[in-house]
Amino acid sequence: ATVTVRLDVEGGGTLARDVTVRWSTGVGTATLGADHAAASGTLVFPAGTASGATQELAVATAATDGGETAETVPVQLVADGAAVGTTATVVIDAHDLPYLDPELPVAERVDDLLSRMSLEAKVGQMTQAERNTADEEDESQVKIDEDPSQIASLQLGSVLSGGGSAPEENTPEAWADMVDGYQLWTRLTPLQIPLVYGVDAVHGHGNVRGATVFPHNLGLGATRDPALVEEVSHVTAAETRATGIPWNFAPCLCVARDTRWGRTYESFSEDPTLVGLMGAAATRGLQGDGAGDLADRDRVMATVKHIGGDGDTEYGSGDDPTREGEYPIDQGVTVTSEEDFERIDLAPYGPSVQEEDAGAVMPSYSSIDRTDGPLADEGPIKAHADAALLTGYLKEGLGFDGFVISDYNGIDQIPGDRASDVRTWVNAGGDMAMEPGDFASFTTTLLEEVRAGRVAEERVDDAVRRILTKKVELGLFEQPFADRTNLGDVGSAEHRGVARRAAAASQVLLKNDGQVLPLAGDAPLYVAGRNADDLGNQIGGWSITWQGQSGEHTEGTTVLEGIREVAPDAEVTFSADASAPVDPESTGVVVVGETPYSEGFGDVGGPQWAYDPADNEVPREPKTMELREEDRAVVDEVCEQAARCVVLVVSGRPLVLGDALGDVDALVASALPGSEGGGVADVLFGAAPFTGQLSHSWPRTAEQGELNVGDEEYAPLFPFGWGLSTEATRTPQEQDVEEAVAAVDAVPADDPRMRELVGALRQAVQALVADPATGVPARAADRIARADVALLEGDHAEAVRLLADAVEE
Ligand code: BGC
Repeated sequence: ATVTVRLDVEGGGTLARDVTVRWSTGVGTATLGADHAAASGTLVFPAGTASGATQELAVATAATDGGETAETVPVQLVADGAAVGTTATVVIDAHDLPYLDPELPVAERVDDLLSRMSLEAKVGQMTQAERNTADEEDESQVKIDEDPSQIASLQLGSVLSGGGSAPEENTPEAWADMVDGYQLWTRLTPLQIPLVYGVDAVHGHGNVRGATVFPHNLGLGATRDPALVEEVSHVTAAETRATGIPWNFAPCLCVARDTRWGRTYESFSEDPTLVGLMGAAATRGLQGDGAGDLADRDRVMATVKHIGGDGDTEYGSGDDPTREGEYPIDQGVTVTSEEDFERIDLAPYGPSVQEEDAGAVMPSYSSIDRTDGPLADEGPIKAHADAALLTGYLKEGLGFDGFVISDYNGIDQIPGDRASDVRTWVNAGGDMAMEPGDFASFTTTLLEEVRAGRVAEERVDDAVRRILTKKVELGLFEQPFADRTNLGDVGSAEHRGVARRAAAASQVLLKNDGQVLPLAGDAPLYVAGRNADDLGNQIGGWSITWQGQSGEHTEGTTVLEGIREVAPDAEVTFSADASAPVDPESTGVVVVGETPYSEGFGDVGGPQWAYDPADNEVPREPKTMELREEDRAVVDEVCEQAARCVVLVVSGRPLVLGDALGDVDALVASALPGSEGGGVADVLFGAAPFTGQLSHSWPRTAEQGELNVGDEEYAPLFPFGWGLSTEATRTPQEQDVEEAVAAVDAVPADDPRMRELVGALRQAVQALVADPATGVPARAADRIARADVALLEGDHAEAVRLLADAVEE
């Protein structure tokens, strides 16, 4: 083994006098004689040597027959005239053991490995630490980043980066270096079980500066295009894996049933079928087509989250004890019958778990309060403690064979003391615990619980077997360190091209009076609104930092920049607050909406502060269901004065427009389109057609937080499934509906054009029912929304019947 010794001169420059380094091998776990020879020597860095110069020393290790676990030979250094920074350890890697043999079946490798593990090693594998988090209660607990040797001493199974937990220099390369740096410590343990590093790449590898950022799931749901979602997720996987990270805490299969929830934008839809479909596509894009693909350099393991009931909790039940219950709805209680729970909250997990073999599942922070069935009398049960959910439904029912990872400090919310939290979690079916700063106490507590017989060793073995199986499938034993082949592709033009297409496909055209859209490329434009030229606002939360932030925090193109690029001949006046005079001949393009937030803090009525990038608590604007007054004023100003106006709502939830609709010629639900504002410009100017459809019903009033397709009294401004197209430009007539119905009837049910034909029928129906000032009448809205659900469920006949019925009367 060769050890490199580097000279660092304080403040740079060259050495003033000679430095002599004496070295010798010491006593580690390797056997002197059999494994290595004792060695020593002297290195001299003569005066005048430049800082950064290196010399090498060699330690001879012996080839031994037969399998062995890893062994160490420490190398001691003593220097005259210099301080020794780090000590060196030579590791003779584990070799020739069955679990290291890639030719053997996965299960055989895992059994072999498990048979060699101590209880401490097993408990370590069940523990995940955050790289830069300190235990709030135990001051003696040091952060991983400050003392990464804990990775070896505790034999940790995993380390994560929470939202915004980036290396100091936030580049793709620094991420790979950081993860490899942690991984290095696993080499010191006898079995050398690699870490599986995890991150939230929930809309691209968003923590990394310069990575491609895709629309959040709210917008992806609107594309109705699973193939596109698969492609987007594949790019996300490639960028994530390139930085040495094989595990993503995505996709969210949350079904946001109340848009007051601050995580609404993480939800593909309010409709469970659409969530299931898109979730499976995302899982496939991340993981590839089967366990065999997990080891590829452009794939990662997916985590479907957060089972069960997040997005469906009751407003007012939110209860994050660490923030004194400041969250009105996040982490709250889902009150439900068994049947509704399965139909709405759990159904989306089937396709990802059973068909796509999702590697991990994360339970929700929220609780489930069943109103019937055997658990009806139990009151609210935290998902993290819910054995019927995690073991019964997921593992035994769906046959889930990956592992269950807790949410960040999630087990703390289980009622009871620490020991009870730990054992309840593991006994309910939890396999690996995300214990950001409390990781050491988790290992000691779990050890005690097992030794006391309160957690069965078989349960521990089952958990560890699940974790190790995924590590083997991910190819980590063969390639623990980052494969940097694709590092240069992070944020590449090709990847941004995919994000741009996705941004275009996610735009939903709600209203287009007088066919204002698409815009002519050479028209005078008056662009206004605070979200027109703000990259951070159009990207949203989970970007660079946990909560996200306004402004240019990463690389990308704002909507305004996109407009300038797509329509270079247009004469563009930009005035965010519309204070510049408006040319009455111009077309107004007003981009308004929300500023970034993420979980809890994004709840309507939630905390009016958030963390800034330096972790300070800073005030943030209140979250509401309505377009803010300032935004409304800009809309009014521009729409009153310009010849015509287009309004884009860039937001993480649909926003109530008040009576603004009548003054607006064209209205676009932009969701959170991500880093490629060019995609938004593409649809505005007709470089791509509008094809998006609402994935969440658009409310008429602020009281309609809980507004979902199929509601008994469904009166949205625009229904689920609504979306105009700019492909058909003539004014529709009643007979168009008849013609469209006839066209559907003329083909067999399994005709490949069916979706398109039903879509044409929907277009004809939409054009007839919408009122320019008041939106869509309730009856028509109900039929259109339910028709889209029928279509998603493959019942074309029902979709056609409902659409035709929408125009009756
Ligand atoms: C969120 C999860 C996320 C985890 C790790 C939690 O606060 O609820 O969705 O995966 O943090 O960052």
